[in-house]
Amino acid sequence: MKIVNLGSLNIDRVYKVGRFALPGETVPTEDFCVYPGGKGLNQSVALAKAGAAVFHAGKIGADGAFLEELLQNAGVDTSLLLRGDTCTGHAVIQVEESGENCILLAGGANQEIAEENVEQALSQIEPGDWLLLQNEISAMAYILDRAAALEIPVALNPSPMTPALPTCNLSSVRCFLLNKLEGQMLTEETNPEAICLALEKKYPKATVVLTLGADGVLCRSGGQWFRHGVYPVEIRDTTGAGDTFTGFFLAAVAGGKSIPEALETASLAAALAISRPGAASSIPTASEVQQAKLTLQKNEEVFL
Ligand code: RIB
Repeated sequence: MKIVNLGSLNIDRVYKVGRFALPGETVPTEDFCVYPGGKGLNQSVALAKAGAAVFHAGKIGADGAFLEELLQNAGVDTSLLLRGDTCTGHAVIQVEESGENCILLAGGANQEIAEENVEQALSQIEPGDWLLLQNEISAMAYILDRAAALEIPVALNPSPMTPALPTCNLSSVRCFLLNKLEGQMLTEETNPEAICLALEKKYPKATVVLTLGADGVLCRSGGQWFRHGVYPVEIRDTTGAGDTFTGFFLAAVAGGKSIPEALETASLAAALAISRPGAASSIPTASEVQQAKLTLQKNEEVFL
């Protein structure tokens, strides 16, 4: 069983700021770093570190070779990765003192995924495999149509949400991993329970994992509710924490773990990611997560 992640790869240019720039304002930055990132790449790294067999299918430019190397070092198979002549996708990220971020995306090679590239990636998927998607690459409507036609189970992190995504064929989605805002845009509901129930009604075979920031996570699966709180850590940089959660959750579920186990592991991994700078670089290993289970359990957990 493997997971094919048809997703983005970005070069993250991260600026530490006292506070986010306002319209028309110029803000001096306190620090600047370049990190590997992209929701797709981050999730592939998290999956591999959590022990899943993952293939990353996406596209980089000539300046993105270090991203491929990083994936390989993390244990991700890059045989489906495309290399082009244009620029690799990049993100301009402001990170405030509180660890909160604000992201601008430039698609670059991520927006050059064409139908034939999609076919090439999907042809590698065998029964029992998963297709993982975010919303940072081109051809999303085509990918979702083809996944439905080929009956490929999809795990979808609909981030960043766009007006086009809710109009796509989401019938092949078996796992939604989303935040409240994305849930609102998909369902027009505002209450977390109502968002989960609306998605369940429309996609009864899907597990819905709704992350709620400091309020933890709410999950609806097989007609049952599951909840998990956050672990208290010192927040340094929230960038990539959602991707870490997604990778660890999906690796656990695909590996046969129960939903409560998957929520616990993913919440611990996300807490560790939040306590470190960068996106892909902040993702913990499975053994670090196991270790955190012993230490963070001693602290008070904040349940919904
Ligand atoms: O989810 C975090 C990621 O969003 C960053 O790494 C950035 O590249 C953007 O894609």
